Amino acid sequence: MWSKSLLTSNVKNDHEKRLCSAQVYEMGDSDDDDIPQLSSHTLAALQEFYDEQQQRKTDPGEGNKYNIGVIEENWQLSQFWYSEETALRLATEAIMAAGKGGRIACVSAPSVYQKLRELNGEDFSVCILEYDKRFAVYGEEFIYYDYNNPLNLPQKLIPHSFDIVIADPPYLSEECLRKTAETIKYLTQRKILLCTGAIMEKEAAELLGVKMCRFIPKHTRNLANEFRCYVNYDSGLNSEVSCS
Ligand SMILES: C[S@@+](CC[C@H](N)C(=O)[O-])C[C@H]1O[C@@H](n2cnc3c(N)ncnc32)[C@H](O)[C@@H]1O
Repeated sequence: MWSKSLLTSNVKNDHEKRLCSAQVYEMGDSDDDDIPQLSSHTLAALQEFYDEQQQRKTDPGEGNKYNIGVIEENWQLSQFWYSEETALRLATEAIMAAGKGGRIACVSAPSVYQKLRELNGEDFSVCILEYDKRFAVYGEEFIYYDYNNPLNLPQKLIPHSFDIVIADPPYLSEECLRKTAETIKYLTQRKILLCTGAIMEKEAAELLGVKMCRFIPKHTRNLANEFRCYVNYDSGLNSEVSCS
């Protein structure tokens, strides 16, 4: 008999958890099957994981330092990177919303920062607020940030000085969203683009006045939770149903 268990990351309590879709199949008690076997799906997933590891052993080089995945996901930090298409869609949305010469803050959303930098635009400035200090490789644009101390920010971050704040809080809990919302409201002039679980819709509306968009974000790995984007302005993310 095969039994299936979901790989759970970041279970701080019952409310604060995210599930990743990696599935582990374990051999249960069975009289007929003495030799453990892996399903073809599990083998394919393991192979994909192994291939990625091998590929990442190669130095990405300076030219690729903004590639999504150059800094590997750490599930203990609830890190699930967007797909290339989603990161590009969110980055271009942020540029449009910020306007010419606009300022963009990426809060716990490092792959949007990476995509913005990869686009190499001259017409906007961007900073990355992140808990994971590996992102300090991005120099002065990196700002260490822990949502537990939402207003513990460097003085150079002037209140309401960003044209748009894009945020993807690490946990699906009211507490995490409430604290991240404090940071978002402190930083933004007005516009907010929030990415979080569909189950956070009510809290997102109450805390930030944002509404769910038609656009559906995708990740490099399939997540067990349904994810959505939310905005408080007239956004291009509402003009299409397509997922990317
Ligand atoms: C679900 S991920 C969002 C990443 C996004 N999907 C992307 O591709 O850029 C949550 C992010 O929160 C960050 N994070 C983890 N613990 C944090 C904390 N205590 N305070 C702020 N951010 C944290 C993680 O490092 C991660 O980048």
